[in-house]
Amino acid sequence: MSRCCVSTIGSVTSQHRSALVPPFLTSIVTDLLYQHQIEIQRNLIAWRAKPLLQRIYRGFYLRVVHQIDPAIPGSIVEIGSGIGNFKSHLKSAIATDLFPNTWLDVACDCYELPFRNGTVSHLVLFDVFHHLRAPNAFLREARRVLTDSGRIVMCEPYISICSFLIYGALHDEPVAWRSPINQALWLSRPRDYYAAQGNATRLFFRKELAACLKGWIIFHAEAFSCFCYLLSGGFSKKALYPLRWLDILQWYDKRLSYWPKCFGARCVVGLCPD
Ligand SMILES: C[S@@+](CC[C@H](N)C(=O)[O-])C[C@H]1O[C@@H](n2cnc3c(N)ncnc32)[C@H](O)[C@@H]1O
Repeated sequence: MSRCCVSTIGSVTSQHRSALVPPFLTSIVTDLLYQHQIEIQRNLIAWRAKPLLQRIYRGFYLRVVHQIDPAIPGSIVEIGSGIGNFKSHLKSAIATDLFPNTWLDVACDCYELPFRNGTVSHLVLFDVFHHLRAPNAFLREARRVLTDSGRIVMCEPYISICSFLIYGALHDEPVAWRSPINQALWLSRPRDYYAAQGNATRLFFRKELAACLKGWIIFHAEAFSCFCYLLSGGFSKKALYPLRWLDILQWYDKRLSYWPKCFGARCVVGLCPD
C-alpha cells in the first residue's frame, strides 16, 4: 500500500540527484524529496506486475474523469503524475511531476507552476494533496493558473473509523489526524518530504481550517468504501485476494459506501473558485 515510503528506502546521494534533477529544480528538490522518485520507479515495476491494481485504479480514474468538464476552456494538467497512468484515461491531460521521467510532459513543482495566469481548466491530483506541506500555498498557485470556471479534482485517502485503523497500522505514511496543518501561503525552498494522509478528510469533509477553503467552493466530495484496494496490498505489499474476487469485493464496497464515516477509505474531491 505504501507508495511514497521514506523509511524503507535507501538514502540518495547528492551526486545521484543532480544527475537526474534538471538544474531549475535543484534548488527545490531536496535529497529527502527525491525519495518520491525512487518510489515512482518501484511503483512502475509493481504496476506492470499487478493487473489487480490496474483494475482497481481504473475505477479511481473514472471517478476523477467524471468530474472533468470538457466545456471549460484551458489545459487539463495533472500534478504529481508519478508513473503517469492517468493520461491513459484522459489523453489530453498534461502529465507533470517534480522529476522529468520519459513518460511525462513537464517537470514542475506545484507551488510554482509553469503555466500562465488563467490558462488551466483543471488541475488533477492523484494521491498528491496529502504530500503537500502547505495546502494553502498550493491553492493560491492553483487559483492563479486556473480559469475562473476552472476546477481542482483530487483523489485521496479518506479517513473513517475502519481506514484510520488500517492506514494507521499498515501504511508507512502518518495519518497525522491531530497534527497542525501549515496554513502559509508560500512555502520556502527547498521543499522536503511530507505526508499526512488525513489532510483531505480534515480539510474538505470535516472543514477544520476555514482559511484553506476561503475563495473556493467544494462542488463535489464523495468518500467511498474501498476494501478491494486496502486488501490489494497496493504497490508495496502482497495482495490478500486473487483478481477473480475483485467483483464481489467491489459489490460489498458499493454497499458499505452508504456509511463512509465507518467504512470509507478513498475520496474524490472537486473544488472550484468561489
Ligand atoms: C503518492 S505519489 C502519487 C503519484 C501518482 N499521482 C499516482 O497516483 O500514481 C505522490 C506524487 O506527488 C509528487 N509530488 C510531491 N510533492 C510535489 C510538489 N511539490 N509538486 C509536484 N509534485 C509533487 C511526487 O513526486 C509523487 O510523484
